[in-house]
Amino acid sequence: MHVDRELACTIAGQLVTAASQRPHVLERRSGSELLEPQRDLPGPFLAPSPRQLPLPGQAGFADAATGKAFLAAIEPYIASASEVRLFNQLYKEIQARKGQVRGAVESTWINIALTAAGLEAIGADASAFPDAFRQGMAAWAGLIGDAGPSAPQTWTAPFTGGARVHAVMILASDTEQDLEAGTVWVRAVMAEHNVAEAGVQDGHVRPEPNRGREHFGFKDGISQPFIPGVTAGQNKKGNDVIAIGEFVIGYADEDDHVSGQPAPPAQPGQPGYNPTPPPPAPALPAWATNGSYLVYRRLRQDVAAFQQFVHDQAQPLGLPADAVGAKLVGRWASGVPLETVQGEKGERDAAAGDPGADPQSPLLRDDRINRFDYQKNDADGHLVPRAAHIRKTNPRDEDPPGRPEANRHRLLRRGIPYGPEFQPTEPAYPGAGPVPDNQDRGLVFICYQASLEDGFEFVQQRWANTPEFPQPGDGRDPIISQDVNLRDMTIPQRGSIPMAQWGHHHRRRLLLRALAERTAHTQPTVKRRAGSTVARRLPILEPNKNRRRK
Ligand code: HEM
Repeated sequence: MHVDRELACTIAGQLVTAASQRPHVLERRSGSELLEPQRDLPGPFLAPSPRQLPLPGQAGFADAATGKAFLAAIEPYIASASEVRLFNQLYKEIQARKGQVRGAVESTWINIALTAAGLEAIGADASAFPDAFRQGMAAWAGLIGDAGPSAPQTWTAPFTGGARVHAVMILASDTEQDLEAGTVWVRAVMAEHNVAEAGVQDGHVRPEPNRGREHFGFKDGISQPFIPGVTAGQNKKGNDVIAIGEFVIGYADEDDHVSGQPAPPAQPGQPGYNPTPPPPAPALPAWATNGSYLVYRRLRQDVAAFQQFVHDQAQPLGLPADAVGAKLVGRWASGVPLETVQGEKGERDAAAGDPGADPQSPLLRDDRINRFDYQKNDADGHLVPRAAHIRKTNPRDEDPPGRPEANRHRLLRRGIPYGPEFQPTEPAYPGAGPVPDNQDRGLVFICYQASLEDGFEFVQQRWANTPEFPQPGDGRDPIISQDVNLRDMTIPQRGSIPMAQWGHHHRRRLLLRALAERTAHTQPTVKRRAGSTVARRLPILEPNKNRRRK
């Protein structure tokens, strides 16, 4: 397994640590440190995750003392965002000089996310956290549309029935060997502290020529919020600049509120003003600062059903099959948007095919691929349907809701595909019963946000699952919202796609199934020790590698 550096390479993060004399955390940050968030934010902000090791609920942390001891033992091996960023920079520089030679610099990164159950198991007080975090994803299944074949009862172990786990560990490496070595090492530390493992979820970048693409074949990871000073030195793709408080607790968000903390009551003249407001919600503990909520969902993808569906819809819509797929997503498989981009003169005809099929296409360049809006030239959705996946999940300047509101619900996506490559010769996807391992593929969807309610849950429920959003008749997001009350998706100037038929056609084998856990977690940070350097912390699994060689 090779992990692709551009799309899905390293991961690191910081940890709810637990030195025994300082139970579960952590050092309060000073005002000046807040001005330099890039110094010790969780590393996952920079990269996604190839492998997760969920720790189970009952047996995860045997008790508070051993749980804390385990976290204290792991903490020195958890890297920070600044380390990952520096490493990525070094990697790029070496690659630019030496070309695509692999192995010049390598790393393995570890991160850990704790659930509310996990926090309680180590004796932390989680009572001030929002219900969405404390109750877990299964409790909110009705709200986010995890029904029928995606209901919690169908979720894969260890989350079946909505079972709670204590934590999810995330490991990422550049090579499969390093990942294995890292896993062996983590397991040894777990065993030493009597921490039980409930299961493992592998993820990996797809092999060439599908590197960087999800299993339906579309380039992924193109549009991401740009957080100044954190996500990258330069914003080459022109992504929206979003306040760090939308993703990390304890910072100013898009409304200039301190993220994660209860919003101040509305003042006279402001919307929602209440002369006798209810008592404010409790404030989060100080150690929550620098934490973020992680959403983890295992989304199974039925590739054959997708291909069949776009093929079936091609003739009624008068479009080639690949253009039907592009209408569902909002981008061509190459990643080129259907929308007219900055610098382009005139609209492209969807029937003409994917312009990005030519790798030299200027539309694939960083200065084009993500530079577009919807409202001025495509308010009716004749280019990108208003229900297309990328338009539902980030409406940009579309009105409603308008850019300020859209930017209050941004997600930092850090997912990675899982499962084997699709084989055209494989048998029909199972109609019932378990999906065999050799056909179980999809996306390990991971995203970070400072509020579950305003982040993932809002996007999934209020935008993707709502056929009236942004306007009546637009339909549901065809990629991530197929499970409940299907309705047609409107494709302006072409007609509509009968999503109900899709559901009927593929009854019991819905194209996408959510098998998931909203492992909401906080990730309070630990201040980096003085004198810690990148060089010291990067080869974190060296001892383990040595063990393997013996
Ligand atoms: C198997 C499931 C999924 C597939 C196949 C998928 C596929 C894609 C693809 C191909 C893109 C375009 C590339 C890009 O801009 O990065 C994209 C963008 C995006 N997806 Fe998904 N996605 C899935 C699940 C989700 C979920 C569950 C959410 C959130 C609820 C989500 C939110 C987004 C967002 C916010 C964007 C960026 C939109 C933009 O800024 O223009 N996706 N996805």
